Amino acid sequence: MSEKKERHDFTGGPLCLSGRNVTKAFGLGDRKTVAVDHVDFDFHEGEFVSIVGESGSGKTTLSKMLLGLLNPTEGEILFEGKVRDISTARKKREYWKGIQAIFQDPFSSFNVFHKIDSVLLDCINMRGGRNLSQEEKVRLMTEACSFVNLKFAELTNKYPFELSGGQMQRLMIARIFLLKPRILLADEPTSMVDACSRATILDMLLDLRDETGMTIIFITHDIGLAYYISDTVYIMEHGRFVESGKADEVILHPKAAYTKRLISDVPKIHEEWDLSTVDLLAKEE
Ligand SMILES: Nc1ncnc2c1ncn2[C@@H]1O[C@H](COP(=O)(O)OP(=O)(O)OP(=O)(O)O)[C@@H](O)[C@H]1O
Ligand SMILES: [Mg+2]
Repeated sequence: MSEKKERHDFTGGPLCLSGRNVTKAFGLGDRKTVAVDHVDFDFHEGEFVSIVGESGSGKTTLSKMLLGLLNPTEGEILFEGKVRDISTARKKREYWKGIQAIFQDPFSSFNVFHKIDSVLLDCINMRGGRNLSQEEKVRLMTEACSFVNLKFAELTNKYPFELSGGQMQRLMIARIFLLKPRILLADEPTSMVDACSRATILDMLLDLRDETGMTIIFITHDIGLAYYISDTVYIMEHGRFVESGKADEVILHPKAAYTKRLISDVPKIHEEWDLSTVDLLAKEE
């Protein structure tokens, strides 16, 4: 995983999700926290975007607004160029057909009382496959499991809590493989796996993007990972984007003091990603 692969450039495609002045404040008066503070962004179809920032910078709050789980206190979110309307339960359901998420804690994503087959069958049904033959359904589930190096035959009749953390995360990616949403939001999806499985999972996400053209929004505190995996990065500090652009430009030629600090705080990325040429002393703009 030390070399960045040559990739198709998705950054000039049609707009998928955009934000104008998107803001979220919690609490009032002295207790007010502005978790996301007037951010603008344009994510394109098929683009692999990373949002990078330290703990508490507002990443999860932003992703909840993108998912429609939290309402912005100010600003607007545009979906495919139009102001997003999720004002009714029906419109929200329609929106959720196009956007899916993988969360930090995979255990929170599954209903623990549903066996793994039914978790995967639900995905097939949601994609309109309810009337497929049992054989075809098993074929699709087997294909999704093998995409993430899991064996479907070993998983049937098991409950999610009988899997390891890493297996659960791979199962989540198998779900996404079946659901094929237009947008995938992944909030630190590799936090529970070792470095080797982490590289595999990230490669799986890249393969998914290449195969389906889905837009992937990857939330992380690890700027080295963001460099490796993304087309575009947005660097978030105290609820604001202090810098954004193509991953290579932002990370190899950082301008904001905060970006430089994130890079220098992770010395190992200099070896792993050969960022030794990064000019940390260049003048901030
Ligand atoms: N429901 C809430 N009520 C009040 N404050 C909140 C709420 N959710 C988040 N915050 C505050 O908003 C800020 C941003 O939190 P958020 O969870 O978005 O950060 P994060 O970047 O995802 O951090 P981490 O990397 O630790 O997951 C923090 O100061 C947090 O305390
Ligand atoms: Mg978070």
